Amino acid sequence: MAMNMLRQTWWLSLLGVVLYYVARAVSKCRRMRGAKIPPGPKGWPLVGNALELASSNSTSIIRIFHQWAQEYGPITQINIMGAKQVILSDEKIANELFVKRGNRYSGRGAPHAVEYISMNQSVGFRPKDEGWRRQRNLMRSAVSITSINKYQSLMDDEATFTLHALLQSLSSFDNVFLRYAYSVLTTSMLGFSIRSESDPYIRENEDFTSEIMKAFRPDCFPSNLFPFLKYMPHWLVPSLRTMERLRVQYAEQMWSMRRKIETSVKDGSAMDSIYKHFLLTRGDYAVTEEESVHTFQGMIDGGTRSPHNNLLVFLFLMMEYPEWQRKLQKEVDQVVGKDRMPNYEDISNLPTVRAIVKEGVRYRSIVAEMGVSHCLETDDVYNGYFFEKGTVFHATFASILMDKETYPDGELFNPARWLEPTYPTYKEPLSVYPNCRNFAAFGYGRRACPGVDFAERSLVILVAKLGWAVNIRWPLNQNGNEARETLEYEPVPAPRPMKFGCSIEARDPARVGVIQRVAERLNTE
Ligand code: HEM
Repeated sequence: MAMNMLRQTWWLSLLGVVLYYVARAVSKCRRMRGAKIPPGPKGWPLVGNALELASSNSTSIIRIFHQWAQEYGPITQINIMGAKQVILSDEKIANELFVKRGNRYSGRGAPHAVEYISMNQSVGFRPKDEGWRRQRNLMRSAVSITSINKYQSLMDDEATFTLHALLQSLSSFDNVFLRYAYSVLTTSMLGFSIRSESDPYIRENEDFTSEIMKAFRPDCFPSNLFPFLKYMPHWLVPSLRTMERLRVQYAEQMWSMRRKIETSVKDGSAMDSIYKHFLLTRGDYAVTEEESVHTFQGMIDGGTRSPHNNLLVFLFLMMEYPEWQRKLQKEVDQVVGKDRMPNYEDISNLPTVRAIVKEGVRYRSIVAEMGVSHCLETDDVYNGYFFEKGTVFHATFASILMDKETYPDGELFNPARWLEPTYPTYKEPLSVYPNCRNFAAFGYGRRACPGVDFAERSLVILVAKLGWAVNIRWPLNQNGNEARETLEYEPVPAPRPMKFGCSIEARDPARVGVIQRVAERLNTE
């Protein structure tokens, strides 16, 4: 009797499982409406393509994605333990999906470790939910307030301070630029300027960011690839314990900054800043307290690394393409003259400066050449292909920003593509274009970088001042020959260029005098 019941239960369970899979397959067929599954590498039963990616760092993932895109075309689908991912390598398709169909393609689908550590509250990594909308509104308003004169002039001062610091210590360009990338943000957003690259604020953020970067890697955090691991007890899985430690540290970092700023606003010692403005006009913003601390931290996290990288890349490019350094200096000299430094009022007359900045971002685009993934929120059919809800899409910059149609000779650094009507990317008037708005390197649609204007402002002013003030050359080796190098990147997401040599010198003593006079005035103000 008991045996019979057991057999019956077993058969019923098996029937249930079969029916579930049949129903799923029927529902999928119906949802597919005759559309095809996109092409892609076959993968293994159950794990799909997970094994090929499990031991990859970001550099090799970019290479593997690029190979797959070449083999299977601009829409390549892979499967990670049953979860679908699509590699897009065509700008037009990325625009069609992420921009025109942005209501469906603006989820994030960050890896598990990233979501865990950032408590699903970080504007850059959380799904496209109501909280994210509230945070984007706060960021939009923050970035637009920084365009007013008061904040532009703070940024201009930061750039002058940087030039002065560089001339004091020419070989420390990496740290000098790192300080600038932080200080332009902390001055306007948080209300304090950072005077030294060894400031604990920078060191703590940098140490923490390099740990957080590992959270994208499946080799460091296997739960990114094998979801069952996230349900295991922490004591059994060391990477889960690391995630918990980082989560606590992250929360503490954000809240201690909030307490510091609140206290200084209350006791009247707070400098003007967007955070102060936010606290004083709190009722105008719908974000929760937690969302607000994450938003300000998100701007520091998202806003320091890429501009720092771009400034380093700028130096490298000026050594590699000296003809563009000459054009930069010529333009700045013609517009500004020798007796003063460039300022924001000159920017509309400096299209070559803007073109060099934009081309630098394109040519060696940052945020890893993988781009930042978007997640599909409902089933969709595009060009006869079926994409399932939850599919994660990667628009790979390595392919898109080198697309032959949009960027003929794209493998070269060629700012002329933004300045001369013979190129498909040219736009007039040159007092406005080129600029970085709607530029693919800053992402797409609703998820596009909210810091694009801020980033462009901070890069353009410093590049103009550098062009005015210094000569940038390859260092010489013992035999007096140029010690040329190639630009290499760290094998992590959002990688930094590896250290390289660069010889910087002032263009002439009179310009050094101008910088010193302005910098001294800033120090005494
Ligand atoms: C050269 C400088 C920069 C570059 C190239 C850059 C690029 C990007 C890219 C490609 C994305 C992903 C867009 C997408 O998913 O489609 C992004 C997102 C983001 N960026 Fe930037 N960025 C830069 C500077 C900044 C700055 C200065 C800030 C802050 C003021 C910032 C804050 C953010 C944030 C918070 C996100 C996440 C947005 C979201 O998921 O809704 N970025 N950025």
